[in-house]
Amino acid sequence: MVKMNFGGIEEDVITLEEFSLKKAKKNLEDKVIVVIGYGSQGRAQALNLRDNGLDVVVGQREGTKSWGQAISDGFEPLSIEDACSRGDIILYLLSDAGQMKQWSSVKKHLARGKTLCFAHGFSIVYRDQTEVIPPEDIDVILVVPKGSGATVREKGGLNASIAVHQNFTGKAEDTANAIAITIGCQNVFKTTFERETYCNLTAERGVLVGALSGLIEAQYNELRKRGHPPSEAFSETVEQLTESLIPLIGEKGMDYLFANISKTAQRGALNWRHKFKEACEPVFEELYDRVKSGDETEVVLEDIDPADELEEISNSEIWRAGEVIRNLRSKNQ
Ligand SMILES: NC(=O)c1ccc[n+]([C@@H]2O[C@H](COP(=O)([O-])OP(=O)(O)OC[C@H]3O[C@@H](n4cnc5c(N)ncnc54)[C@H](OP(=O)(O)O)[C@@H]3O)[C@@H](O)[C@H]2O)c1
Repeated sequence: MVKMNFGGIEEDVITLEEFSLKKAKKNLEDKVIVVIGYGSQGRAQALNLRDNGLDVVVGQREGTKSWGQAISDGFEPLSIEDACSRGDIILYLLSDAGQMKQWSSVKKHLARGKTLCFAHGFSIVYRDQTEVIPPEDIDVILVVPKGSGATVREKGGLNASIAVHQNFTGKAEDTANAIAITIGCQNVFKTTFERETYCNLTAERGVLVGALSGLIEAQYNELRKRGHPPSEAFSETVEQLTESLIPLIGEKGMDYLFANISKTAQRGALNWRHKFKEACEPVFEELYDRVKSGDETEVVLEDIDPADELEEISNSEIWRAGEVIRNLRSKNQ
C-alpha cells in the first residue's frame, strides 16, 4: 500500500508493485470463479479472468443474446443455479434489479467460506429494499472497475475500488485485490460499500451522464431557438467538447484548459462558471439526499423498460445531427 497525496489529503492506493498480477493469480489459482451474468461487466471480467489462466464458469439465463454471446466466446454457460453450485467465488454481475430477482437461486448455494463479489454496492447497501442479505459465514466483497465493460476488456489498466462487507475467512481483502488485478485493473482504492454506492449513483445521475446530457440539450436548444442551424449548434455544444476539450482535460486538467484558451473565452468562462455552479449545487444536494434515502433505489428496482425513452433520445434532432457530423469526420480520416 502506498500513501498518495491528493491536493493535501492522503489516501492509500494499492498498485501492481504491492499486489502483482503473479500474486493475484496465485491467490485465485485453486478457486472456481463463477461469473453470474454475461452482460457488459460479466463478459469483460469473465474473459479477462480466463485470459489470466483462471478457472471461470459462466452462469446466465438461457435463450437471450447474452447466453449466445457466452457460447460464441467459448464458454459453456450454465443456469444461474447450476453455476453458483460450482463456484468458490461468485461474481454477481446481473443488473442491480436482476440481482434482487435472482437472489433466491444464488443464496441457496452460498456455502460456508465462499465469497460473494459485487461490482456495485447497490444490493447490499439497500438490503432493506432488495432483500439481498447474505449468510454470515461467507465473505462479501466489492470490486468496482472504474469504467464500462468494454473499457475493462479493450483498454484495461483502469483504477478499481474495493470494499469488504463481511470478512468471514479473514482473507476477504486479499481476494478483492486479487480479483481487481486479474480482471485487468491496476491501481486499487479502498472504500466502503456505502461510500462507493452513494458516490457512483450520484455521479452517473450527475456529471457522468444525467447532468451532462441535460446541460448539452439545454445549450443546443437555446442555440437552435436563436436560429443557429443544427451543424453549428452541435459543433459548439458537443463536437468541440468531445473531440478537443474532454481529451485535453483528461490529459492535462481543467486548470490547463482555463490557462490555454483565448482571453475572450477565458474571461467569459471564469465569470460564468460561478453561475452554473450555483444553479447546480441545490440540484446535487437533492440528488445526493435521494440516493442516500433510497428514493433512487425504488426507481431502479421498478425496472421500467427504457426502450421508448431511449428511442426518443436516439431520434432527437441533436443526436441525428451528431451522426451526420461523425460521418463527415470519418470520411475525412
Ligand atoms: N456497465 C458498467 O459500466 C458498470 C461499471 C461498474 C459496475 N457495474 C455493475 O456491474 C453489474 C452488472 O452491470 P452490467 O452493466 O454489466 O449489466 P448489463 O450489461 O445490463 O447485464 C445485465 C446482466 O444481467 C442479466 N439479467 C438482467 N435481469 C435479469 C433477470 N431478471 N434474471 C436473470 N438475469 C438477468 C442479463 O441477462 P440477459 O442478457 O439475459 O438479459 C445480463 O447478463 C451491476 O451491479 C452494475 O451496477 C457496471
